[in-house]
Amino acid sequence: MSTFILGIESSCDDTSAAVLENAQIRSNIIANQIVHKSFGGVVPELASRAHQQNIIPVVDIALKEANITKKHLSAIAFTRGPGLLGSLLVGTSFAKSFALGLGIPIIEVDHLKAHILSHFIEDESTTNHPEFPFLCLTVSGGHTQIVRVNSPSDMQIIGNTIDDAAGEAFDKAAKIMGLPYPGGPEIDKLAKTGNPAAFHFPEPRIKGLNFSFSGLKTSFLYFLRDQLKTDQQFIEKHKADLAASIQQTIINILINKLSMAAEQTGIKEIAIAGGVSANSGLRGKTLEIAEKFGWNTYIPKLQYSTDNAAMIAIAGYFKYLDKDFAGQDITPYSKSRFK
Ligand code: KG4
Ligand code: ZN
Repeated sequence: MSTFILGIESSCDDTSAAVLENAQIRSNIIANQIVHKSFGGVVPELASRAHQQNIIPVVDIALKEANITKKHLSAIAFTRGPGLLGSLLVGTSFAKSFALGLGIPIIEVDHLKAHILSHFIEDESTTNHPEFPFLCLTVSGGHTQIVRVNSPSDMQIIGNTIDDAAGEAFDKAAKIMGLPYPGGPEIDKLAKTGNPAAFHFPEPRIKGLNFSFSGLKTSFLYFLRDQLKTDQQFIEKHKADLAASIQQTIINILINKLSMAAEQTGIKEIAIAGGVSANSGLRGKTLEIAEKFGWNTYIPKLQYSTDNAAMIAIAGYFKYLDKDFAGQDITPYSKSRFK
């Protein structure tokens, strides 16, 4: 008999609901919140209000698209954290009350672990997934980690950022250039026509497998401030080259540490995940390096790279198999508990 998991994701500014039949995708609906655009970043209060408005219609569409009714559901998985507390509360409360009404269990999911497990979502064109143990470079708006994944329930962070996340580096560089939020996809678009060697930005020297991105942001800011003193049009004239150069530097930092992790652990099963894994430069570089070092690489489809509920549902499915359910007294957390 099939297991149907409804996944709910509401950690930041996307309201998403998805249905999986076992590991097979049946629907994955994402409502983006455009309300934040004019503020140049996510406004937490507006995000939670928008989640409240979106959640019921989004779940309704996810069930319809999956061609099932709520009575078919086996369990509801929801993002417990990390994220914006007000936003997480909407998803958590919805999951609790919906499950209570249906008499089915709830499953709490860690957003970062779900990004990693997105590699196990099956669809008609899925060919393979990583073998355990594998390494995952998780790169999102709030986190940058290298994780050794021993099993769906046994993961160990072996590298972490000591300050900003890679996604923040993209978003802040874009903001400095006057590009709209979120800046990552904008930089990616511009970089396609730019020269990555046009400008040089220093890479941090951080020991071991940890990352740092705050110095890069500062050097980018100071470089542009100096150039603008003599040429007010500098950014406009060099937009594509600036985007390509900053993107290349971020990718180099990420790939250097990932290569070091692979060498240290001897693991050649290598995955990337999280919003920044949607970056075309990073995807290309990962494949290039994989060829050089003989890695088997796993790059999520674009729809599973950025925030989505299908990844929450697959993480929930693994916990469902272990009967790892949460109680109605569960509360969300804003800071990562994944150590
Ligand atoms: O995983 P995600 O959707 O949300 C969080 O969990 O944070 O990641 C969002 C981050 C943002 O910083 C966004 O700018 C970045 O992912 N991002 C990208 C691209 N698409 C999304 N960064 C670079 N290139 C992209 N194509
Ligand atoms: Zn995310």
